[in-house]
Amino acid sequence: MLGLCKECITMNDYKQLHDELRSFHDLYPEEFSLLYRNNQTCTLNERLMKYQLKFNLLEIINRQVKSSYRIYSYQSCFFITDYKTNSLDQVFSPYDEEVNICAPFYTNELFKNQRVLEIGTGCGLYTTLAAEKDCTVTGVDINPKAVEYAKFNILLNNVQQYAKVMAADIESMLPLVPEYDLVIASLPYMPNPPTLSEKKTYSDGGEYGWKLSLQAISQISKRLNSRARLKMYTMNLGNEHTSYIELNPYFFFNDLPVSVTLTKICANMHIFSDWYTHKFSNNNNQAVILQWLDHLKARNLNYMHYVTLEITPASKFSLTVKRKDYNLNIAYPRSKNIYSPIV
Ligand SMILES: C[S@@+](CC[C@H](N)C(=O)[O-])C[C@H]1O[C@@H](n2cnc3c(N)ncnc32)[C@H](O)[C@@H]1O
Repeated sequence: MLGLCKECITMNDYKQLHDELRSFHDLYPEEFSLLYRNNQTCTLNERLMKYQLKFNLLEIINRQVKSSYRIYSYQSCFFITDYKTNSLDQVFSPYDEEVNICAPFYTNELFKNQRVLEIGTGCGLYTTLAAEKDCTVTGVDINPKAVEYAKFNILLNNVQQYAKVMAADIESMLPLVPEYDLVIASLPYMPNPPTLSEKKTYSDGGEYGWKLSLQAISQISKRLNSRARLKMYTMNLGNEHTSYIELNPYFFFNDLPVSVTLTKICANMHIFSDWYTHKFSNNNNQAVILQWLDHLKARNLNYMHYVTLEITPASKFSLTVKRKDYNLNIAYPRSKNIYSPIV
């Protein structure tokens, strides 16, 4: 259980933990990402450990240090999130490739006192970054465990004056959408075969990955006030050159009184064999996955494209595409910034 629930924790303890993480990170940037990993000798900082223990972020069992939490750093902020687990309510762990696209996209144009709603806040990363700009931010997530982490991270980064989070799903937030200047929808986008028995809350985007994104586009954009925007990040199936959203824009936007800017498309992430087969390598669902990959490949949907979408209320439909290809090189299993348990 995270330290949030401990009565003896004070705001000063959060500050101390943040300060210790900062100084350790600045002194040993390489070790920071490898802390406690695979029993290797690394610079163990006693002061940092003291606070990690206080917040239950570490355990000492048989004189060995263990952690099931990951600590992710972005700019001046730190975020506690899950190390990879088998549990279906695992809290999404941000990673650089995605955050480097989304953080500027979501927050660059924000200014003081704007009202921001993030749907699918996860560990609270973008909620925190928006609050750092002195916006009033509400973050919601369907997963109560994610909300617990987001609360922790808001206190850790000292933005509680501007940010609040709660457990809620997209449906229940719809009536409140008109109150906000910016709605960020960071929803699950991984395609999952319908027959898959294990679907993680953070990654289940339905059969083609766009189930929740489509819901967000159609339901939120109708409710935006005239000055507001919806910003989304999603992944989109397609072929090597073109994303499905470009090929079939009316499938996504038909009948919507919105103008849409597809700000970035990052192609060349040939995920299927690598990502899924690694993910399900020791898993009973492997046969289901392989069959389903064949099904997509047969439809020439064998590439994933990163897509950022900005939607503003407007009288006329328009679709602009600006392409940017990223040479993504995502290796699995990832090791960066992960505290892995020592067994
Ligand atoms: C891909 S994760 C993104 C998390 C976070 N924004 C980030 O980038 O670190 C998607 C998040 O959406 C949440 N989610 C899934 N379905 C939802 C729904 N119907 N309403 C609200 N949140 C949902 C998941 O629990 C998960 O935390």
